[in-house]
Amino acid sequence: MTRLARLHRDARFCPILDVVAQVRQLQARGVELVDLSVGTPNFLPAPHVYAAAREALAADQGQYGSSRGTAALVSAYLGYLATQGLRLHEDRHVVAGLGAKHLLHAVFAAISEAGDEVVVPTPCWPTYFDIVEQAGGTVVPVAGSVDNGYKIGPEALARALGPRTKAVLLNNPSNPTGATYDREELRELAAVLRGHGAWIISDDVYSRFIEPDLDFCHLLQVAPDLVDRVVKIDSVSKLYGMPGWRVGMTAAPVSLAEAVVRLNSNSVSSLPDVTAAAAAAALDGDQSFSHEMVQRYRHRRELAHRELSRSPRLRCPLPRGAFYLFPDVSACFGLRAPGGGIEGDADPVVVRDDLHLAQLLLERARVAVVPGSFFGEPRGLRLTCSGDTDIVAEGARRIRAFVDALR
Ligand SMILES: Cc1ncc(COP(=O)(O)O)c(C=O)c1O
Repeated sequence: MTRLARLHRDARFCPILDVVAQVRQLQARGVELVDLSVGTPNFLPAPHVYAAAREALAADQGQYGSSRGTAALVSAYLGYLATQGLRLHEDRHVVAGLGAKHLLHAVFAAISEAGDEVVVPTPCWPTYFDIVEQAGGTVVPVAGSVDNGYKIGPEALARALGPRTKAVLLNNPSNPTGATYDREELRELAAVLRGHGAWIISDDVYSRFIEPDLDFCHLLQVAPDLVDRVVKIDSVSKLYGMPGWRVGMTAAPVSLAEAVVRLNSNSVSSLPDVTAAAAAAALDGDQSFSHEMVQRYRHRRELAHRELSRSPRLRCPLPRGAFYLFPDVSACFGLRAPGGGIEGDADPVVVRDDLHLAQLLLERARVAVVPGSFFGEPRGLRLTCSGDTDIVAEGARRIRAFVDALR
């Protein structure tokens, strides 16, 4: 019978990409919008990255390549890890993939059995739910509270771990909250993780965008003894302004790295040489262009945070990393929004929940954000603050004005 597998009948399209598609449709109709929805870095790669891509294109032989990644890319990634103070890996631990998303899929496909639990601090990136489910597992959320900047503590982590826990998935700094664990907090989490045999997946795709005065490090620096269980996931998407180039890297225990290489050999085969060369140049070359963004993101985040904090209806921790804000907007639920909007004739309406508020912000305040439900926290909304300063400021102003006008 021609029927999709149950997991794929029920699977959803990536909800953030859904919002992005809606924004693009409105923009194509000529509707003026401030877009704070999509989490892209808002800068382009440095000239040396494009030069490396051109060189690879000129030398192209049109062949399949290595399912682990080109030697140059693997070596550039190991060099990158060394600059982070991580010298625990060799070539055989490293695999390249088509972005962190693809590598996370491959890693969960390689480690999961039906009924496995994966402990994930929430709010979290929505794709974690889908990836874990598609591999047959279940997410066990550990909810961070707005009062603690959405970070979880060791006790909460310990409570979530159990006999069925196959993996713990950490994202530091976090999408969507920007919550960033410092060295001491990681030490406390590591002490709990040490007592349980689960895999530890560390999604580090935002690990450059950290406030410089924060005592930040990688989990493996406070707990190198966990290296046999830690799977480090990186990507050039956010670090180097390369989300469209689709290159991610993982450093993992050899058995898992080999499993991901085998999966690659039977799925994507290899990365295109041109993108691999560009990613190697990004990881290897001058890093200043990407470091420069740290201060800019911080400025934009603080600007938007100041604006949101003017409203008593928005509770928003100021995060120390990434480029997001995640205000608690639950004080807006049940209040009445004025009429009007893109079509001009919408009636006043009571705000039901985060999904509704995000829709109203889009249609009536013309600012696109992402509902917190997508991240497992229905009291919040995610704003991306990576865009130009005036756009971020205007978006925050529209949100504040809209929620303050609720009655
Ligand atoms: C936390 C997190 N992990 C992974 C990814 C995916 O990165 P890539 O573009 O390398 O697939 C994203 C992208 O938004 C992300 O926010």
